[in-house]
Amino acid sequence: MAKLSLRDLDVRGKRVLVRVDFNVPTEERDGEVVITDDTRMQESLPTIQYLREQGARTILLAHFGRPKGKPVEKYSLRPVGMALHNLIDHPVAFSHDCIGADADAIVADMKDGDVTLLENVRFHAEEEANDPKFAEALAQLSDGLYVNDAFGAAHRAHASTAGITKFVRQAAMGSLMEKELKYLHEELAQPARPFLVIMGGGKVSDKIGVIKALMEKADTFLICGAMAHTFFKAQG
Ligand code: 3PG
Repeated sequence: MAKLSLRDLDVRGKRVLVRVDFNVPTEERDGEVVITDDTRMQESLPTIQYLREQGARTILLAHFGRPKGKPVEKYSLRPVGMALHNLIDHPVAFSHDCIGADADAIVADMKDGDVTLLENVRFHAEEEANDPKFAEALAQLSDGLYVNDAFGAAHRAHASTAGITKFVRQAAMGSLMEKELKYLHEELAQPARPFLVIMGGGKVSDKIGVIKALMEKADTFLICGAMAHTFFKAQG
């Protein structure tokens, strides 16, 4: 079945739930949380700006860190909402819970072109458990329209990335997701030679399947950053 893209949806005046990956690195400076690299937010701006231009009401869903199913202040998305406000030059309403009365009231107050960011979905254990009731509660915030732009979290079968699709009328890829999938499918099917793979970052256990698949295709494979450290450690 062909995948829907953002541009296939009729979003004008509609509430659209958008799953983004705003799991950005932060540090505390003078008691304030500062985002040290907003690349992930920048990458989802085309989706957010498109929806705003189309007069949609954009409701952003995201996780931040690993709070293990309960509210933890240091994993609040509030500072991310403030940074997004500056990036899009438009107020970003913030709901301190991603479901329930607060979220309902804030969403009900939205006008066309507005943006709301919901608090960290992982403050509920039901997110990682992919609980259907939780997924349905998230879905009912929208007018049956869901967009997944969280490429960095696409390997997680959680309520906000997978379960939710059963409770909306249409589910589509955001611009970032579409760009990444296009690259993975088209460029990797027949890569230009020599094919050099450079891979960094952490969380080796999550990437091992990708590493194995790419090693079969690559002429040269470079592993750097935190992941290289893990590999050296494993070799003793
Ligand atoms: C990431 O930072 O790799 C993604 O946001 C996924 O986060 P997770 O590994 O905590 O699921």
